[in-house]
Amino acid sequence: MAIRNIVLEGDPILTKKCRVVERFDDRLAQLIDDMKETMTLKDGVGLAAPQVGVLKRVIVILYEEDKIIELVNPKIIESSGMQEDAEGCLSCPGEYGITRRPMNVKVKAQDRFGKEHVYEGEALLARAFCHEIDHLDGILFKEHVIRMLDSSELEVEK
Ligand code: NI
Repeated sequence: MAIRNIVLEGDPILTKKCRVVERFDDRLAQLIDDMKETMTLKDGVGLAAPQVGVLKRVIVILYEEDKIIELVNPKIIESSGMQEDAEGCLSCPGEYGITRRPMNVKVKAQDRFGKEHVYEGEALLARAFCHEIDHLDGILFKEHVIRMLDSSELEVEK
């Protein structure tokens, strides 16, 4: 495994649409392992492949406290409800804003072997699924921001 560099906002790679993964090979497994390690080191709750410079539809998400799941070619198949809460991104360090997201989502995705799984997320987890899947279509959380938080509010959010 290896730590990969995080691509920061302003890099055009973060605005591109990612390719569907068709080959479930060692290279994909390596990418996923590296993304998990990088996300853990950076204390993130999710990471998308374009954030490490790879335009493939792959994300990793902190699912439970110590479990990171991998989602290849993820799709939101159901969503319901609404929440507004603070959100940030490893590609936009130090910036947080209030976004509006569904409260519940159901996501279908493959794992590194191509096997399909369905995951359900509520609250923070639903936000994470939406945020990371957006990255695969070149969308940053700021496009959903209702209001950016200023420095006095940031102390509370951190
Ligand atoms: Ni992000």
